[in-house]
Amino acid sequence: MTTNPPPLLIDRFGRIVNYLRVSITDRCDFRCIYCMSEDMTFLPRGQILTLEEIETVCRAFVGLGVDKIRITGGEPMVRKGAMDLLRKIGRMEGLRELVLTTNGSQLETMAGEMKACGIKRINISLDTLDATLFKQMTRVGDLNTVLRGIDAAMAAGFQRIKLNAVILKNRNHQEIGNLVEFAVAKRIDISFIEEMPLGVVDSHDRAEEYYSSDQIRADLERRFTLLPDTANTGGPSRYFRVAGSDTKVGFISPHSHNFCGDCNRVRLTAEGRLLLCLGNEHSVDLKRVLRGNPNDVGKLKTAIVEAMRIKPEKHEFDLTEKPVIFRHMSATGG
Ligand code: GTP
Ligand code: 5AD
Ligand code: SF4
Repeated sequence: MTTNPPPLLIDRFGRIVNYLRVSITDRCDFRCIYCMSEDMTFLPRGQILTLEEIETVCRAFVGLGVDKIRITGGEPMVRKGAMDLLRKIGRMEGLRELVLTTNGSQLETMAGEMKACGIKRINISLDTLDATLFKQMTRVGDLNTVLRGIDAAMAAGFQRIKLNAVILKNRNHQEIGNLVEFAVAKRIDISFIEEMPLGVVDSHDRAEEYYSSDQIRADLERRFTLLPDTANTGGPSRYFRVAGSDTKVGFISPHSHNFCGDCNRVRLTAEGRLLLCLGNEHSVDLKRVLRGNPNDVGKLKTAIVEAMRIKPEKHEFDLTEKPVIFRHMSATGG
């Protein structure tokens, strides 16, 4: 009889870490109001991990039992050489799922090649279907480019595409129903995300614009029937199915429904910090380990295993206080 080896990445609370989220750049071609300031300063080149270093870290994680990697940003597809990196990660033995989160700006030209790299699923950010509002919320983005990108991703054969919508009161809360209708028509899924206070942004008051998942659900239930769904992708979404359709609606509710007890993930920031929780600063500087011990994967793996000891139990977000987390979502990848 064969028994599975014990998990290598396990924290003080018995949670097994099998999911790594990797921000491959903090840069983005959009400037979403809840994510960054308009005049955002990005990290200098030498401060972020090289593509080879990112590959080495991913390989080490897969060797330690991680079987799902999500590539994020910033916007991952604006990093030069991203496609080569994706191809290499996509081939790693032991990796069950390579997935990616994107703003959709590059999908029109890149979706086919991304599919060929072995990416299984993609999540695409879309907060509104109103072109003027889209421009306001992203400050520079073009809605039609993203819509064409979504079509290109579908044509490339991506299954179970998921839209991500961050909902802010009096900005885009009136778009909730239209977004679900769009998802139903395209036969794709959608998640609604409560805004998290990450980094100082200059454009709005987060407490005033808070719109809870429960409010979103109540709005939707006036127009659709939502049936509870047991599906779980290992992510923090709670899912419902829209009756009479294939579409699942997820709610990511860091404020109103804590999901930390099931947390299975850690994050690699663009700078090479291994971040143990999105809502806390506990981290280990893997860039220092990598650059201090070139060609010594053993040291890297030891640092990763030991990092599990400082994974915090849960996030604490408070929208009424100034953010206590100073990094922006773009450096962390959500
Ligand atoms: P799948 O479940 O694989 O589809 O992915 P996901 O929904 O976790 O991934 P995606 O990149 O689409 O993430 C959506 C958003 O969920 C992220 O941007 C974060 O805002 C939020 N999120 C994901 N994981 C966590 C987490 O561990 N803690 C908190 N607070 N938020 C998270
Ligand atoms: N709070 C919640 N979600 C955010 N995102 C970016 N910044 C924030 C924030 N402060 C979302 C993006 C994208 C996902 C990766 O994270 O809209 O869909
Ligand atoms: Fe870019 Fe995503 Fe941040 Fe928008 S939320 S600015 S698309 S990284």
